[in-house]
Amino acid sequence: MKLIKLNAIDSTSSFLKEMAKNSTLKNYTVVVAKDQTKGRGQRESSWSSEPNKNLTFSTFISDLDLQITHQKYFNFAICLAVYDVISKYIDNQLFIKWPNDILSANQKICGILIENSISKSFIQKSIVGIGINVNQEEFRDDLNKVSSLTNITGKLYNLDDLLIEVVNSIKNRVNQVVQKDYKNLEADYLNVLYKKNTPSMFKTTKNVLFMGKIIGISSSGNLQVELEDESLKEFGIKEISFA
Ligand code: BTN
Repeated sequence: MKLIKLNAIDSTSSFLKEMAKNSTLKNYTVVVAKDQTKGRGQRESSWSSEPNKNLTFSTFISDLDLQITHQKYFNFAICLAVYDVISKYIDNQLFIKWPNDILSANQKICGILIENSISKSFIQKSIVGIGINVNQEEFRDDLNKVSSLTNITGKLYNLDDLLIEVVNSIKNRVNQVVQKDYKNLEADYLNVLYKKNTPSMFKTTKNVLFMGKIIGISSSGNLQVELEDESLKEFGIKEISFA
């Protein structure tokens, strides 16, 4: 693993993307920064993280050889890799919220941004950006919605050690993708999927509220929800959220 440590950068994912354009990167090149001035989140959101307290890093993965029709397994692998590590420290209601947030007791402690380069129907390269709230104690916004390892366990963590653990865990889980062990990846993901089989209130992008329960993930990676009349409906990432 090639590790590039930075004090500050706009975004480790943007930095790695630029590097990948201009040179041949080794598989599992990792860029970690103590501070990100313009951290990026899913759906064009931003990712804020107190400098020196948390893990904000991105890694370049190029050995996937995965058809885009199997893209969801790559997402499962990355989520499970982080989940596997965090679950060593936290056992308090730890779940993966579809598609790729990690929550403890309903509070987000990790966000994942996967940016794939696709060509000839295969994922050729991917830049996986991970933000784990580790030693940060105070959160300005969304006080109840966000937390950190330290707030949950009362302990402080060594960021360098945690980084190595997470990267090794990513290698293990991505290896499951390379080995085409899709069945176990899906079973493990569904086993820890937030609100699976639990009647929940959802909201569409048009602010329509409805009750339903998550029953699985479709082959294209959409969320499968059983509605109150027992019919099934699929939703893409931009289409619904929990109300
Ligand atoms: C999300 O939950 O919206 C995804 C957040 C991903 C944040 C990480 S931090 C390291 C990497 N660099 C970025 O700019 N974003 C990701």
